[in-house]
Amino acid sequence: MKVRIEYAILGIVALAMVSIFFEFENRKGYVLPSQLRPYNVHMTNSDRETTFLWSIGIYPDYCTFSISSSNYTLTKYNQKLYFYYIYKVKIPNNIVHFSSSYSISCHLSQELSSRIFSLHHNIKNKNKILFLGDFSTSRIGDASNYQHTQTYKPNILTILENDYDQVSEIWHLGDIAYDLFSLKGLRGEEFLMDLEPFASKIPYIAVVGNHEIKSLFRDYQSLFADGLYFSRTIGQSKIIAISSEFDFYFMKPFAFPYKHGYFQYLKQKQVAWLKKTLEEVDRKVTPWVIVVAHKPLYCSQNEESSMIMQVCTIQARVMRDAYEDIFLKYEVDLGIFAHIHLYERTLPVKHHEIIGDYEDTKVFYNPKAPIYVINGVAGNLEGESIVFSITETPDPWTVLITENLGYGILTVHNFTHLEYRQYGFGYSQWDNAFIDLYPTKHLIDTFLIVKTSHI
Ligand SMILES: *[C@@H]1O[C@H](CO)[C@@H](O)[C@H](O)[C@H]1NC(C)=O
Ligand SMILES: *[C@@H]1O[C@H](CO)[C@@H](O)[C@H](O)[C@H]1NC(C)=O
Repeated sequence: MKVRIEYAILGIVALAMVSIFFEFENRKGYVLPSQLRPYNVHMTNSDRETTFLWSIGIYPDYCTFSISSSNYTLTKYNQKLYFYYIYKVKIPNNIVHFSSSYSISCHLSQELSSRIFSLHHNIKNKNKILFLGDFSTSRIGDASNYQHTQTYKPNILTILENDYDQVSEIWHLGDIAYDLFSLKGLRGEEFLMDLEPFASKIPYIAVVGNHEIKSLFRDYQSLFADGLYFSRTIGQSKIIAISSEFDFYFMKPFAFPYKHGYFQYLKQKQVAWLKKTLEEVDRKVTPWVIVVAHKPLYCSQNEESSMIMQVCTIQARVMRDAYEDIFLKYEVDLGIFAHIHLYERTLPVKHHEIIGDYEDTKVFYNPKAPIYVINGVAGNLEGESIVFSITETPDPWTVLITENLGYGILTVHNFTHLEYRQYGFGYSQWDNAFIDLYPTKHLIDTFLIVKTSHI
């Protein structure tokens, strides 16, 4: 009797396996075109090539990428992340610049899914870069389960959809989607879907922030192609992006015990690369040097905000200790950062001292020290307990602090003129983040650096 039960169980298991096999077998060779649809299409560039990235929810036989008269066949994905496959293809810039559109097709058995995208080139926008930081759009999930997502600001999407055609690229200075890995990557996916309308037309360049540290930057490096530190030549400027995050391993002794050594190693590599990159800039050809990162070197303290105190005392000091002397030695003109969800802009400053006399805080002739900008106003509201409030007593080198939603545009005019403009939408960080604030667009700050000393 006992033996028979065992046989019966075995029989049932075998039957189940056979039926599963046939279920599976029934679908073989058939997929829905929507499963093959390339999505999250976005692009980034370097001085030589443009990288196009997309995801697909099923492993295809192959994908093709066509631009101008060139076709590229990709038989292998670059990364599998969570439940999707990520493809990256690098195309020489000269091909991209002469093309107005590109197409991506993915194939599986008899099925095919294709999409066509138009590129946006406009000579008028050349050398204009849009900067923003700490930006999320995600609606999925229970926000209170995640760090710093009390109220995200999805209305910046409308703003970017309206204004992307005024610049040649967008740079996101860290803290991406809050967080790329949340809900097994769903937030990152949703964020990239939201960006697609403009990130498939102009480069969307991502710099790492503290929210990308988890899993040692894996999600960031899978979903973007910029790297942890990199540089770009844009007109007569060199823009150098560094990771501020390698410097903070010691602040989380319990969270990252085994990662300290790795972070220290990355830090040393980055500093050596930074010095070499700065040294190699020929200032007669490329007079402007701009460094961008997530965490700032200078920001005004505010005792009323514990968040600001932590960033503007401890973290800013770590950043200054690590990088200020390098910036001074190589005569960096401008630093642009985020992390603080405000906008703040300094005078030329060196070791806490204003360098020069300034009646006019909007035009600087041959300044002798860098100007620093914090542009994290796209950042989420962190909630009542961690407010980024504006101090009534800004530090002496600070010209302006504002809190309303916004972005900045850097224009590299020519060998002698570099201009930064900050645009604001709405009037307070407590503005309704779900209504269209675009009609309230206004100029918050503008400054011009004029340099003739190198000619
Ligand atoms: C590239 O692929 C497209 C679409 O599959 C095709 O129409 C075109 O002829 C191909 N071009 C070349 C140069 O192979
Ligand atoms: C550089 O750009 C500025 C601002 O647009 C302009 O006023 C100036 O004439 C330009 N200089 C040269 C040499 O083109």
